Amino acid sequence: CIAFFQKKLLIGKRILITAGPTFEAMDPVRGITNRSSGKMGFAIARAAIEAGAEVHLVAGPCELTTPLAATGKITRTNVVSAKEMHAATMQSRDCDIFFAVAAVADWGIAKPAKEKMKRQGKQAPSLEFVANPDILGDVAKTVRMKGGRPHPYCIGFAAESTELAKHAEEKRKRKGIPMIVGNIGPDTFGSDLNELLIVDENGSKKIAKAEKLQLARQLIQLVAKKI
Ligand code: CTP
Ligand code: CA
Repeated sequence: CIAFFQKKLLIGKRILITAGPTFEAMDPVRGITNRSSGKMGFAIARAAIEAGAEVHLVAGPCELTTPLAATGKITRTNVVSAKEMHAATMQSRDCDIFFAVAAVADWGIAKPAKEKMKRQGKQAPSLEFVANPDILGDVAKTVRMKGGRPHPYCIGFAAESTELAKHAEEKRKRKGIPMIVGNIGPDTFGSDLNELLIVDENGSKKIAKAEKLQLARQLIQLVAKKI
């Protein structure tokens, strides 16, 4: 097992991770979500614990069990909406590394119906949206220098349909963060496999296609050397 060979580079470090999708309610039984499975974020949580870290996981609605729960090195807050994810994340933002892996809904429903919307005698409803808070952007605004390094060291994820490297670099600059990890390939959602493009101040480099847990372990080793 590769985990056995993981260098314990994160002993004493606290890692915060958002993972999974968010769910924006339209009424008590319906809502809008996305295809994120949470697998990449949960794999990063596991890899971070293997490297000696303590992890807090803020998870959107997903079926995954908490990795390495028996170690006592991981705590988890389950959330539903982007607003809830924002509040839970801001509460735990005092950490060494923040991985924003969640696929956060950019817009929530302006006025979710209190009761189930009924079909009878009604036309199809139209939905009004409101912008959700930018969780990664708001954590990035609180970053302070500590021992010559940004605290927390913030890592964003990006799934783009075109020009991944260009959009990832733009996003890194816009959000004022040191690293963006791009998902290469169109079929990452729900898959156990992925391929990553790491974009930081030195440019971009690929981590070749592998199981998400193997990628997470490589990413953790790479990020551990930055802090
Ligand atoms: N993110 C976040 N809060 C949001 C939206 C995004 O924390 N409300 C984080 C994601 O977890 C990810 C990073 O920001 O790490 C980039 O997400 P992405 O959706 O690619 O960026 P956006 O700024 O929302 O841009 P886009 O218009 O491409 O969706
Ligand atoms: Ca977005």
